[in-house]
Amino acid sequence: MLIDVRGLIHRIGERTILDLPAFQIQRGEHALLLGPSGSGKTTLINILTGLVTPTGGEVLVDGRPIARLSPAERDDLRRRTIGLVFQTLRLVSALTVRENLALAQRLALGRVDAAQIERLIGRVGLAHRANALPRQLSQGEGQRAAIARALCARPALVVADEPTSALDDANAQAMVDLLLDSAEATGATLLIATHDSRIKGRFGRTLELQPLMAAA
Ligand SMILES: Nc1ncnc2c1ncn2[C@@H]1O[C@H](COP(=O)(O)OP(=O)(O)OP(=O)(O)O)[C@@H](O)[C@H]1O
Ligand SMILES: [Mg+2]
Repeated sequence: MLIDVRGLIHRIGERTILDLPAFQIQRGEHALLLGPSGSGKTTLINILTGLVTPTGGEVLVDGRPIARLSPAERDDLRRRTIGLVFQTLRLVSALTVRENLALAQRLALGRVDAAQIERLIGRVGLAHRANALPRQLSQGEGQRAAIARALCARPALVVADEPTSALDDANAQAMVDLLLDSAEATGATLLIATHDSRIKGRFGRTLELQPLMAAA
């Protein structure tokens, strides 16, 4: 099992943001995380990737209790095991697209695989933009660069937060193809948060979050 969530509760002030009694993702599974805006998709992703510590419950990632690791251990797990596509992209602004991928590989693997970088840049249709800085990219180009970055170190877990929101139909399908193909090729587990109805049919497994309105 790659992700094992038990009794997860996350409160901010008086408000319960997430209440997830049990949720598991098996190694190699491809799952969609659905739910309306505000239902807690990004919060759950932040918890699963150790960026936010939940107020209650247990989250095991690859068998490790992510909230109880030291900050250094958490960083290490995130760098080596998880490829993350942030909703806000978070590309390094001073580095080009190609350099962003190289940095991610260096942090995860301790080396750069230039051929893999060029292959991925080609797959996301950014060969002509590889030397561009993030601020010079369109929103959709930035999203494709962030997807390539998440995949470039062949992580065991790929987590993507609304990775197709800014993409046209052809690019949205192409990016889902890329995520699924890459996961298939490396045996990676995929978790993709979305409200993009264009891609919902492509995944076997879904977790639907309900908005929690009242303070609990
Ligand atoms: N740091 C915070 N402080 C206060 N409230 C927060 C904080 N982070 C998230 N929330 C609230 O928690 C709820 C869940 O937010 P979250 O960003 O996880 O939703 P989401 O499902 O990702 O939404 P979207 O589809 O719009 O991205 C929202 O009501 C949000 O306002
Ligand atoms: Mg979100």
